[in-house]
Amino acid sequence: MIGFLDQLARPLLYALDPEDAHRLAIRMLQIAPLPPAGPDDGRLATRVFGLNFPNPIGIAAGFDKHAEIPDALLRAGFGFVEIGTVTPLPQPGNPRPRLFRLDADQAVINRLGFNSEGADAVLRRLAARAKAGGIVGINVGANKDAPNRVADYVRLIERFAAVASYVTVNISSPNTPGLRDMQQAGVLDDLLARVIDARERVTKNAGPTPVLLKIAPDLSLADLDDVVGIARARRVDGMIVGSTTVTRPAGLRDAQSAEAGGLSGHPLLPLADRMLAETYVRVEGVFPLVGVGGIDSGVSALGKIRAGASLVQIYSGLVFRGLGLVGEIKRTIVAALERDGGQNLVDYVGADAASATAESWPDDFVSGRSHRGSS
Ligand SMILES: Cc1cc2nc3c(=O)[nH]c(=O)nc-3n(C[C@H](O)[C@H](O)[C@H](O)COP(=O)(O)O)c2cc1C
Repeated sequence: MIGFLDQLARPLLYALDPEDAHRLAIRMLQIAPLPPAGPDDGRLATRVFGLNFPNPIGIAAGFDKHAEIPDALLRAGFGFVEIGTVTPLPQPGNPRPRLFRLDADQAVINRLGFNSEGADAVLRRLAARAKAGGIVGINVGANKDAPNRVADYVRLIERFAAVASYVTVNISSPNTPGLRDMQQAGVLDDLLARVIDARERVTKNAGPTPVLLKIAPDLSLADLDDVVGIARARRVDGMIVGSTTVTRPAGLRDAQSAEAGGLSGHPLLPLADRMLAETYVRVEGVFPLVGVGGIDSGVSALGKIRAGASLVQIYSGLVFRGLGLVGEIKRTIVAALERDGGQNLVDYVGADAASATAESWPDDFVSGRSHRGSS
C-alpha cells in the first residue's frame, strides 16, 4: 500500500524543484499520514545503546529537520527517526538553489548549511509528542555565527535530553565553514568531554540519554584513529558513520555533479561502507555503530550491517526508491535470517568488516586516497 501511494506521488514530486518537492512531501505526510506499516517480524527487533528498536532501519538526519512528521515516519515503518540538524537559534542556511538531484547517478548534492527553525520550535514539537513513544533522536549542530561552538552543543544537549531518545553530536556537515575541523583531536576531545559532562548533569532529571557522534566519510585513516580513540576515551554511546562526502567519485555522469556541497546516495556506498568497516575494527565492540550512506536496496542495507552497523539510516535512497524501500530492506533481512537459520540480525553485525578493510581502497575514490594517509 505504501509502495502504491508512493508510485502515485513520485512523478509529481519529480516535476518540482528538489527543495519544493521535499517541502511538499513533508506537507503530504502531515496532512494525510500513510496507513500504518504493520507490526515488524520479531527477528528484526534489536537492542542498541540501551534502547529497544522494533527494526534497525532509521531515517537519517536532514529529512525531518524541524520535527514536523516524526510520528508519520514511525507509522510508515521506520524503526527510529533522527530529527535535525537543529541549531540553538533559527538560521536560514545557504541561498537557494542548494539541493540538487543527480538522476543519472541516483545521487543528491546538498549545501543547505543547517537551515533550522531553531531549538525552541523543535523542542516544542518534540515535547508535544513525547508521550507518543517510538524512538526519536535529535541531531544537534552549532549556529554558523556562534561565538563558541562547543557551548552551542552543550546547550542543546541540556535542552533536548529530556525529550529525545538519543542525541547526535554532528560535526560532519561540509556546509558550515570550519565545522568539520571539530573532528581534529584537540578540539574533539574538549567537545566530547563537555558534552558528556552536560549529559551527566541532566541525567538525574532526564534519564540516561545516549550521546552519539556523527562523522564525515572524508576523514583520513590517521584522523579516524584519533577520532575513535577520543570517542572511546570519552565514552560516547555510539558513532554514526557517516555524512555526505565532499569528494566526487570517478564515473559520475550527471551535469549537476559539479555543484558544490555534500554528495549522498548510490555513488557514496563504497566509501561509506569502507569507512564504516574501518571504524568498526578500531572500535573493537566498545560501542555500536549506525551505518549511513548509499543504501538503496535490501542488499546494500544488509551489506552495511555486515560492514559493522548495528542500525542503518537512509535518506537519498528514499528519493529514488520511495518509502517502499523500508519494507524491501526488512524482507531482505528476514529472508537472510531464514536462509541462514539465524534468530537475530546481531549475528551479521561486522561479519565482513575485517575482510573489507584488507581490500584495496574503493576504485572510484582512489584519487582522493593520496591525501588520506593511512594508519
Ligand atoms: C538534503 C539533505 C540534507 C541533509 N541534512 C543533514 C543534516 O541536517 N544533518 C546531518 O547530520 N546529516 C544531514 N544529511 C546527511 C544524511 O543524514 C546522510 O548522512 C547522508 O545523506 C548519507 O546517506 P544517504 O546516502 O542515504 O543519503 C543530509 C542529507 C541530504 C541529502
